[in-house]
Amino acid sequence: MERDAGRLSALRSGRTPFYEPGLDEQVAESVARGRLSFTDDCRVGMRDAEFAFLAANTPVDESGRADLSHFWQAAADLAHAVSGQRPIVVVKSTVPVGTSQALGDFLRRQSGDGQRWCVVANPEFLTEGNALRALRECDRIVIGSDDHWALTEVASLYAPLQTPLVATDFATAEMVKYGSNAFLATKISFINELAHLCEQTGADVQTVALRMGLDPRIGLAFLRPGAGFGGSCLPKHTRALARMARDEGLELSIVEAAVEANRRQRRAVVHRLREALGPLDGRCIALWGLAFKPNTSDIREAPALDVIEMLLAEGAEVRAYDPQAMDPMRKRHPNVSYAQDALTAVEGADALVLLTEWEEFRLADLAEVRRCLRGDLVFDGRFMWEKEDVEEAGLRYMTIAGWSQREAGAGARRLADSAVQAERLLRAA
Ligand code: UDX
Repeated sequence: MERDAGRLSALRSGRTPFYEPGLDEQVAESVARGRLSFTDDCRVGMRDAEFAFLAANTPVDESGRADLSHFWQAAADLAHAVSGQRPIVVVKSTVPVGTSQALGDFLRRQSGDGQRWCVVANPEFLTEGNALRALRECDRIVIGSDDHWALTEVASLYAPLQTPLVATDFATAEMVKYGSNAFLATKISFINELAHLCEQTGADVQTVALRMGLDPRIGLAFLRPGAGFGGSCLPKHTRALARMARDEGLELSIVEAAVEANRRQRRAVVHRLREALGPLDGRCIALWGLAFKPNTSDIREAPALDVIEMLLAEGAEVRAYDPQAMDPMRKRHPNVSYAQDALTAVEGADALVLLTEWEEFRLADLAEVRRCLRGDLVFDGRFMWEKEDVEEAGLRYMTIAGWSQREAGAGARRLADSAVQAERLLRAA
């Protein structure tokens, strides 16, 4: 079911409205084989359906509360479109805890005949940029319901994936999703904050993260420092979870701190550039990477959005390049100039700033970058390059934080002083 006419016709010809590796081919193949079809007519979509997946977008408003208008609209359309046998309604949208429970009554009221609807909460954990693999090789499927038969039916749908399946109640299933995303976000903010302390004390944050992560209780994933987390889930779900807690009279102080640390991380990019280049007014900054992560065209809550805004506000000229995300960014920031390729973006710029670790950038010829840049500063916002490689190409390497790029901080100086003093005392003794 797709209401937007443009998107609908694109989908019918096998094209998805965003870049996701392998998805266009998969959709086109499934359409050609008659296994997948698209419609804007809910009655057609629901004909003989045994399951109905609700996957409507649930953005959060300024206060962090989820806006469920699309979700309820889709549910109402569904209730009005079904005649005869009722499908099991599977909630894929990320909804505040309690929504799936309320959906059953909502559907009953909308359909007006007093008959019961079976609802199953089934949160989605796939990641963008490798969504098909993430779906096929997912590590758990969580389903929640008050109806045992509906749980069994939905479990049977997933049986071919041979994935551990957890069946639970509505609220628990919904909370697993928020808890998972908030925890991942907290891990990222934790390592990003630690990176600043590493820098002040002369430790190398990447090695610290690696050695920490080798402890299976900690794990290696989501300990990559950088410009912070973006996307359609982590930023939104951390805010929504914190809001949910506030609405219950509680405070999730760790989650709130993770959100705030993420905001600071974006400001740190521009702060660092200012430190290296002086006032940014009139400076030309080449920006590599607009998507919130590689292998997607998605720019929702991408660090690049904030960084561009701050750079423009300070009077800098921004020259951007991304392999897939320039069209969506052009709509948000028409005043930025968009280059046709990575090196053109760098031509004559004072600094190169990397915000998304696309493979294309990892493999870039740094000597060519040196030749094209007017200045010599490379700011690696994702710890993607080796400092030595960048410096070998005659460029200056800078990151957000993580290894000592300036004088030791006050704590380190204090410790050094106390060591000197101890040595003096030892000599005197
Ligand atoms: C996330 C969850 O991982 C997934 O389970 C859920 O279903 C949807 O939300 P996704 O938004 O696709 O997936 O991206 P993810 O890989 O989680 O990365 C989110 C952000 O965190 C990106 O901006 C990424 O660059 C950043 N990140 C990730 C880091 O900064 N460091 C890391 O170590 C990992």
